[in-house]
Amino acid sequence: MTNPDPDAAKSAGEVNIVHVTLIAAAAAMGGFLFGYDSSVINGAVPAIEEAFGVGSAVTGFTVAAALLGSAVGAMIAGGLADRFGRIRVMQVAAVLFAISAIGSAVPFAVWDLAFWRVIGGVAIGIASVIAPTYIAEVSPPAYRGRLASLQQLAIVLGIAISQLVNFVLAAAAGGSASNQLGFLQAWQWMLGVELVPALLYLVLSVVIPESPRYLVRTGRESRARAVLAEVEGGDVEYRIREIHNALGRETRPRLRDVTGKFGLLPIVWIGMALSAFQQLVGINVIFYYSASLWQSVGVQESNSLLLSLFTSIVNIIGTFIAIGLVDKIGRKPLLLIGSAGMAVALGTTSYAFSHATVSGGGGQADLSFAWGAVALASASTFVLFFALSWGVVVWVLLGEMFPLRVRAAAMAVATATQWVANWLVTVTFPSLRDWSLPGTYMIYTAFAVISFVFVWRFVAETKGKTLESMGRDERTSA
Ligand code: GLC
Repeated sequence: MTNPDPDAAKSAGEVNIVHVTLIAAAAAMGGFLFGYDSSVINGAVPAIEEAFGVGSAVTGFTVAAALLGSAVGAMIAGGLADRFGRIRVMQVAAVLFAISAIGSAVPFAVWDLAFWRVIGGVAIGIASVIAPTYIAEVSPPAYRGRLASLQQLAIVLGIAISQLVNFVLAAAAGGSASNQLGFLQAWQWMLGVELVPALLYLVLSVVIPESPRYLVRTGRESRARAVLAEVEGGDVEYRIREIHNALGRETRPRLRDVTGKFGLLPIVWIGMALSAFQQLVGINVIFYYSASLWQSVGVQESNSLLLSLFTSIVNIIGTFIAIGLVDKIGRKPLLLIGSAGMAVALGTTSYAFSHATVSGGGGQADLSFAWGAVALASASTFVLFFALSWGVVVWVLLGEMFPLRVRAAAMAVATATQWVANWLVTVTFPSLRDWSLPGTYMIYTAFAVISFVFVWRFVAETKGKTLESMGRDERTSA
């Protein structure tokens, strides 16, 4: 994450790092909402099935609906940000988050809930592109990498807070998300509480400055100077020249930029594959469904919410480990370690689940205490290996691996691929679970194994290279 560019180091000493960190953290609220909104559904799933009397396929669709919205949001965010500015787009996302929180809290039918979730999903998709873009643009070069990791940190904090909120609300309602809590049921509060961070995001987006790069591009250079002086200090004229240079080489996102010999440029295929593998190992089954996952093997609802909270804390710990390691041991070794660890942990989870015994007529399976403990330990180990590798590294790589000429378009395509793959896993899980839980986990294990081979064969190290040098061999390297 350190930038070896000597000019970057030149201005770094004079930078007001506290100030710029606060601004980056404010923008990373988009990541927090991304994490919160996408995983809050976890604690609400069983209650939604009960409230609307729907089966697993419909639930899968409802949970996943948000993610298709996210794919769309990711595709349109770049274009909107270039036209209306980064701040305006953040404000649009914040308003969408707020509307979706209110709508999801009081749905009158399951399709109505799906609709509001899609609106929130569009906001998530926008946030998943705009936060890293804005942070990269306001960050002094020497700090860009570290500040960029704030995004994944914000995502995992959002996930953890949503699990905490779910646990506390269900506990306050007497142990179940289906119970009444005041004038709503607990699961409705779970979805509605998001209004608070959404409004906070809106307020913060009014306070933080527009990106200097956008200001220069739209001819407001004196304002850009003021922002640069305020945010970064150092040699403002030098930074303005630098932005002009970069803008000269930059292109708007166009699909034709990323097409090549095999339909798309090889590097774009690699970015898409990394995004897909990050999802196909089933990480979000843990964050969107773990409550019902644990319940399906006999754990009580309130305990299952506690387990979900526990896994999201493991996720935070893993993320800190990754941030510490990514520039030391590099991207590729981290991904390989992650894939290997995930494969073993997922295989063990599958084996543990295969010991569930079906009791009674309802098809309810139960794990013995010992196998339950094995399943929990291996699922948590899986989350740890994901968090210290693929969770952070894929976002870091997407930001740096593409040559500047195609960066915007390639980023849009790769991020949208991630949302589509996420959707695929999420929409299929409830039915796969009904088919066979150990079988489902064997599929995730297989993807972890394939991801190892893929990284080994196709991913080149980018640690320590300058962003600018990344384009030189764009057709062969990653
Ligand atoms: C990454 C993934 C996201 C997942 C999160 C879990 O950010 O992109 O889908 O929920 O990690 O920590």
